[in-house]
Amino acid sequence: MPTLPRLAVLVSGRGSNLQAILDAIDAGSLDAEVVGVFSNRPRAQALQRVHASLRWSRDARDYARREDFDAELAEAVAASRPDWVVCAGYLRILGDAFIERFRGRLLNIHPSLLPLYRGLRTHERALEAGDREHGASVHFMVPELDAGAVVAQARVPVLPGDDAHALQSRVLEVEHPLLLATLRLAVAGRIAERGDTALLDGHALFTPLALDSTGCLRETLR
Ligand code: GRF
Repeated sequence: MPTLPRLAVLVSGRGSNLQAILDAIDAGSLDAEVVGVFSNRPRAQALQRVHASLRWSRDARDYARREDFDAELAEAVAASRPDWVVCAGYLRILGDAFIERFRGRLLNIHPSLLPLYRGLRTHERALEAGDREHGASVHFMVPELDAGAVVAQARVPVLPGDDAHALQSRVLEVEHPLLLATLRLAVAGRIAERGDTALLDGHALFTPLALDSTGCLRETLR
């Protein structure tokens, strides 16, 4: 039997994106295996979603320097021999050395339509700006925060009366199918990073793939 593509997943909190990955694998709609779940927060709810043998966690606050924590994390991730490293709600900045080590197979899901709103408080900032649309992006990670090539995006409307919580919930609903659809391409070997550009089947994507209402990714001319 061919071996399945190996996913290492980095998490910090609730882990609903991780759960979406696990459910899709169970349902047979994502041909992959989660080979490790890694966290900077030992009490993260996300860790409880997998068997103890797959968990790695250290409290990042116990480390004097970011590089020291990152180095241990990198060793643990590398030991799981991942094909892809997926930041799915990993709420800590990864240092350059970590990113360079896994670059090209390191994906992050970010709750905004990048390049808008890198960093935190994305939902609040979209509301403050009066945006009519908001959403989520899956991108290759580079040393600059939330700046790597965007592979795919999902859009949601901003509705009258929305507060940050309502908007966050609407975005989270599309994050899960967005992440899964992107991971399907990843594990099938269909996406890659070249410089600051994402490639699909070897050709450059000038705009991110867009998630449609059926959960499929489409190329757009937007
Ligand atoms: C998601 O909104 C993700 O985009 C962001 O953090 C949140 C994590 O949610 N980076 P969960 O832990 O997957 O439920």
